[in-house]
Amino acid sequence: MSGIQSVLQETRVFNPSAEVQQAAAISGMASYKALCAQADADYSGFWGNLAREKLLWHKPFTEVLDESNAPFYRWFADGQLNASYNCLDANLINGNGDKTAIVFEADDGSVTNVSFRQLHERVCKLANGLKAQGIKKGDRVLIYIPMSVEGVVAMQACARIGATHSVVFGGFSAKSVQERVIDAGAVAIITADEQVRGGKTLPIKAIVDEAISMGGCEALKTVIVYRRTGNPINMQAGRDIWLHEVEGPQSAQCEPEWVDAEHPLFILYTSGSTGKPKGVQHSTGGYLLWAKTTMQWTFDAKPNDLFWCTADIGWITGHTYVCYGPTAAGITQLVFEGVPTYPNAGRFWQMIEKHKVTLFYTAPTAIRSLIKASETDPNVHPNKSDLSSLRILGSVGEPINPEAWMWYHKHVGGERCPIVDTFWQTETGGHMITPLPGATPLVPGSCTLPLPGIMAAIVDETGNDLPNGQGGVLVVKRPWPSMIRTIWGDPERFKKSYYPAELGGKLYLAGDGAIRDKDTGYFTIMGRIDDVLNVSGHRMGTMEIESALVAKSDLVAEAAVVGRPDDLTGEAIVAFVVLKRPRPTGDEARALAKELRDWVAKEIGPIAKPKDIRFGDNLPKTRSGKIMRRLLRAIAKGEAITQDVSTLENPAILEQLAENN
Ligand code: PRX
Repeated sequence: MSGIQSVLQETRVFNPSAEVQQAAAISGMASYKALCAQADADYSGFWGNLAREKLLWHKPFTEVLDESNAPFYRWFADGQLNASYNCLDANLINGNGDKTAIVFEADDGSVTNVSFRQLHERVCKLANGLKAQGIKKGDRVLIYIPMSVEGVVAMQACARIGATHSVVFGGFSAKSVQERVIDAGAVAIITADEQVRGGKTLPIKAIVDEAISMGGCEALKTVIVYRRTGNPINMQAGRDIWLHEVEGPQSAQCEPEWVDAEHPLFILYTSGSTGKPKGVQHSTGGYLLWAKTTMQWTFDAKPNDLFWCTADIGWITGHTYVCYGPTAAGITQLVFEGVPTYPNAGRFWQMIEKHKVTLFYTAPTAIRSLIKASETDPNVHPNKSDLSSLRILGSVGEPINPEAWMWYHKHVGGERCPIVDTFWQTETGGHMITPLPGATPLVPGSCTLPLPGIMAAIVDETGNDLPNGQGGVLVVKRPWPSMIRTIWGDPERFKKSYYPAELGGKLYLAGDGAIRDKDTGYFTIMGRIDDVLNVSGHRMGTMEIESALVAKSDLVAEAAVVGRPDDLTGEAIVAFVVLKRPRPTGDEARALAKELRDWVAKEIGPIAKPKDIRFGDNLPKTRSGKIMRRLLRAIAKGEAITQDVSTLENPAILEQLAENN
């Protein structure tokens, strides 16, 4: 049975226990429905009240939603606030100053606690230091740094002075860094000397040097380097400066820069269906409102909780549920430098026991790989750790298959903890469709129902509503505060990608297929409808990988990339390649496949390496020259070709492409 079939036939239902329900802020389905009804009855009243209740405004807004230039929606536009003030000063005002904001566990297991007051001091010092470096409101600052307190401090310091940050995941290559510096017009990079993961040190600063040496980074003036390991690195005089020297002389007080609610808090690059990543631009007010609200709704976060989101700050999950959500909600969180498999694959469970984590949020890929590890080594099974502190579990980034869900429920959650399967995207800023732990009956593999205020629906290709039980295109019918504002520097692409004319121009197109259950109306996500793959919860564009492959122009004539279902990583990347030399076989083919994999790692990053590379004399094309991706997907899965291939120019090459290297 295919993954989606098994989800659609799932009949198990898990109701919240009376205990969980009683303790929850949104308790029972009636409370959930009441909130939805409020949003239905008075949409702007609903959001306006939330924004006044949840955030501290320097200047109150008078208008909630401005739709005059749709789809460039503006929320709370004449209000002013500061994100870092709401995440840090707000906690000092509330008497949380001495409360631990971050419990940081390094790769080697050493632990550092940072209180809200200390975090505030660090952020103010760096914010003053950034200003002393000439960085000001509206400037873009690229952050390329490992998981660390410093990473959070860097993001918050940018927010404090109104600089727009753009965090690039540490696994991306020098070329990816260079492209993002250029596209964002970044004036500074905040980075580290090295990163430490799984007992190994890896260069970071050297990658930044390489990126800058590729040229085109004219706006870039300053590189600020956090000394993580202290090993010797190159520091270029006049450009590079240590983070501790930037912070050192500065005052621990910094008046926040009050910005308009629509001021761009950050740009985060993500993959789309063209070769060029999109700079997703988020606002300050609407984004922060949802980061805080979803912490409280989806995770039911309470003052005594210890929250642990395992995502890197280089992804949207790390933005919303590491940097901004927990701090804005005044919740203590664990930040982890390392990897789940070092020193052994029981690390997550051991850390949950050690720190008494109550709310745990991770990705299905991590769960699946830890299931596998615990099958071969019983010592790393979660039952070797005391996980009784856990209250609520979360899943994010890709569909969770029912088997993984059940294992997570049984072995991690002790059949006690609700699992919130949160569907959302870089573009949505925060959760969209997710159970509420104290309300929603859970069905493994379904992200259940939209949060109050989120008008998710399923439509056909022309934008007409579809009845429950019929699969279609996932859309959101009304704008919401934390939504993407535009694609940095490319408003036309924003419109075309997210508000396409084919759907009438008024529906937000998520890019996923979905279906609602006939009886419950529960949503199940069926996967992307565009050329975007989801590999280990990481979003990759097939065109991006194809462009990287053909950029090796001495070797590659043509390439087509498709996804194939994978038990561990969700999807795996399969590349079909035509070389500028006769089709290789045997050892030569294997050596060339390795060369191409390494090339893609250098061009984009190791996460984009194709798992499987097949060589052919040509690609399957129609007589008009169009690549038949449908066929390539079938070949990648190892399926027999049953489709009609009569329109194919060159049917013989199908056999070549089916051969494994
Ligand atoms: O296809 C959906 C999948 O991940 C895509 C968004 O990827 P990204 O922008 O990198 O954000 C990931 C973290 C929010 C979506 O279009 N996706 C995300 N969460 C789920 C999911 N698919 C199924 N179930 C989910 N819970």
